[in-house]
Amino acid sequence: MTCCRHCQEAGEFFNDEKARTELRQYRKDGPPNKSTRLLIDGLRTLDLSSATLLDVGGGVGMIQHELMAEGVSEATLVEASPAYLEVAENETRRRGRADRATFQHGDFVDLAPELPEADLVTLDRVICCYPHMNELVQASTAKATRWYGVTYPRTRWFLRWAKPVTDLYCWWKDMDFRIYLHEGVDRAIQSAGFRRFYHVKTFLWHVALYERPETVTA
Ligand SMILES: C[S@@+](CC[C@H](N)C(=O)[O-])C[C@H]1O[C@@H](n2cnc3c(N)ncnc32)[C@H](O)[C@@H]1O
Repeated sequence: MTCCRHCQEAGEFFNDEKARTELRQYRKDGPPNKSTRLLIDGLRTLDLSSATLLDVGGGVGMIQHELMAEGVSEATLVEASPAYLEVAENETRRRGRADRATFQHGDFVDLAPELPEADLVTLDRVICCYPHMNELVQASTAKATRWYGVTYPRTRWFLRWAKPVTDLYCWWKDMDFRIYLHEGVDRAIQSAGFRRFYHVKTFLWHVALYERPETVTA
């Protein structure tokens, strides 16, 4: 499989073993991360019946699996890691929803021009895996016709201090993948014409939902 540089990096870090472990945990106990659970809680307050979903960097497909059970009609999952994409696709088939789901391998920013719009676009813990935050936010908000849901790390001082440690770990493991603590994520999303209506902070994460104002019903 030919692969862009970002996909190679993501594929090394988000490998087959990690994907299988995450799926096992998810099947046993549901989404393991508090931020993911909070994002899903917020999304469950929306009327998602017949809505379409585009999940960017969807991992093993937790958002998609949960929201298809809530009425989402069709989902597209885009993944840079081939291992995660394969696990997500197999799990979707196992759940009997393969006919309503599409899986695309690649860097979302490169693929975006060919991808369909969706009522809801989600990026759960993805912005921190990508070096070019503005490009990723611009390309993904452009695909969201109604709602946009994200989780991304807070820029707290101890996370800034931890960043060189994670960089060192990746370097030591001979991986080019890096984690990024981007400033200005909320500003970039609001500049794309979205209004935030749900925001929860955990110790490490922002969890936020946005909507396009013209879709707000009085
Ligand atoms: C920390 S994981 C989160 C997975 C999932 N969203 C979750 O919360 O369980 C980040 C995922 O985003 C993917 N990713 C990062 N940048 C991406 C991009 N530009 N296009 C597509 N996938 C991307 C990675 O391959 C990885 O699987």
